[in-house]
Amino acid sequence: GAPVEVDISKIEPGMLLAIAWQGKPVWVVNRTKEMLAMLPKNDPHLLDPKSDQPQQPVYCKNEGRSIKPEFLVVVGICTHLGCSPTFRKDVGAADLGADWPGGWFCPCHGSKYDLAARVFKDVPAPLNMVIPPYKYINDGRILVG
Ligand code: FES
Repeated sequence: GAPVEVDISKIEPGMLLAIAWQGKPVWVVNRTKEMLAMLPKNDPHLLDPKSDQPQQPVYCKNEGRSIKPEFLVVVGICTHLGCSPTFRKDVGAADLGADWPGGWFCPCHGSKYDLAARVFKDVPAPLNMVIPPYKYINDGRILVG
């Protein structure tokens, strides 16, 4: 499929923009400083905190799994059986526990991901959500694919 150009300049801090690429949902999240500050604290609870799994592109081998720290670009598909996880950025969500650091919750079988789409331990999903190929055209536009 053709690469998809995305205007990321209008995404408010803390918000998610969903686009389609190759028939798949791709999410771009403009993470706030507060959201980014949460990420290192999650490492001990994650299956693959450093994204060492080989199917991940090199530019996601950092704490935010992104080229620029604030913008996460991720294929929005649960790595268990392909459901669509729900964006749950609310820290300490009542139903997810006081220690919930924000991220995604998959309604199908309960997999949890942090705000870098890294999977937590002890859930069915075996991998972090996939980072697609993308690059920056300029500060406000990316090309996915
Ligand atoms: Fe997401 Fe099973 S498909 S937990």
